[in-house]
Amino acid sequence: MRYAYVLWFCFLLFLGFPRNIFHKPSIQVNADLGLIQKTCRFTNNYDLCVSILESNSSSFNTDTKGLAIVIASAGIANATATSTYLSSRLLNSNGEAIPKKVIRECVDKYKYAGGALEASTQDLAMESYDYASMHVMAAAEYPSACHNAFRRYSGLAYPVEIQRREDGLKQICDVVLGIIDLLFSES
Ligand SMILES: *[C@@H]1O[C@H](CO)[C@@H](O)[C@H](O)[C@H]1NC(C)=O
Ligand SMILES: *[C@@H]1O[C@H](CO)[C@@H](O)[C@H](O)[C@H]1NC(C)=O
Repeated sequence: MRYAYVLWFCFLLFLGFPRNIFHKPSIQVNADLGLIQKTCRFTNNYDLCVSILESNSSSFNTDTKGLAIVIASAGIANATATSTYLSSRLLNSNGEAIPKKVIRECVDKYKYAGGALEASTQDLAMESYDYASMHVMAAAEYPSACHNAFRRYSGLAYPVEIQRREDGLKQICDVVLGIIDLLFSES
């Protein structure tokens, strides 16, 4: 009688409990967090690396290559945001006399930076790490070309906000390059 009761209880347990209780998802998440931390320690900007990866759920079920793709994707968003920011300045053109030619050149450069990072995600997916690193280095260089467009006009100040965005995108690219170095050493 008591034995039947225990069996029945086990049966109810089996039916009623969500399966993930048995799968212990917290251990899975910890394992992935471990990969994120291990990977980011290999880069020159641990905090930026971890914060980008933790903000994208794709990071929690992937490998080192996938983590590089997540950071590169954040770089695409970052470059695109700056390109849009510059376009809107071109339309508004309030006060500051930045020649349209310079603005246009900068808009294009940030678009190219996004395109180069897009290409790097495809290279990474195909494990072509040499091409991936070339594309990421190109993406990091395009903002300098925008900066140079300002330098060509004497007396034209380089806006602090564009400098901040240039530095931000370059930092993201550096993190991707760090992970690509790790991928090279593992392959
Ligand atoms: C998260 O990363 C993936 C690449 O694995 C990318 O396609 C996606 O756009 C990213 N999501 C966000 C919200 O940035
Ligand atoms: C891009 O980088 C800048 C500078 O670090 C940061 O302030 C901004 O939030 C980033 N934008 C996106 C869309 O990631």
